Amino acid sequence: MAYSNKVIDHYENPRNVGVLDKDADNVGTGMVGAPACGDVMRLQIQVNDAGIIEEARFKTYGCGSAIASSSLVTEWLKGKTLDQAQAIKNKDIAQELALPPVKIHCSVLAEDAIKAAIEDYRSKKVADQA
Ligand code: FES
Ligand code: FES
Repeated sequence: MAYSNKVIDHYENPRNVGVLDKDADNVGTGMVGAPACGDVMRLQIQVNDAGIIEEARFKTYGCGSAIASSSLVTEWLKGKTLDQAQAIKNKDIAQELALPPVKIHCSVLAEDAIKAAIEDYRSKKVADQA
């Protein structure tokens, strides 16, 4: 399979690989898997008091497109509000990376991971207020 230059760039120089403290109350962690291929992606966001995502980290066990998708979204997430982050669509990721049809689910994984991280963050906030 021929990967696009952008996929190769993110694969060879992944941005924001790593781990944030998942127990911190300003960190949301999303962990998702792709049933189609068994790949797993963990995406974390750190949100400041103004509700802006100031850090994002990922670890992905998977193919080049999955790694590139998660690397790309960590760049996109920084500086966004949660609502803006929620609006990121797998289409945008697939288009930016020029993913071929068989690799679309890799970008879906990244969208799902964003949503899962936001949900985790929000559920912690609700728990705080309870
Ligand atoms: Fe998931 Fe490529 S099939 S690693
Ligand atoms: Fe499954 Fe890429 S082939 S996530």
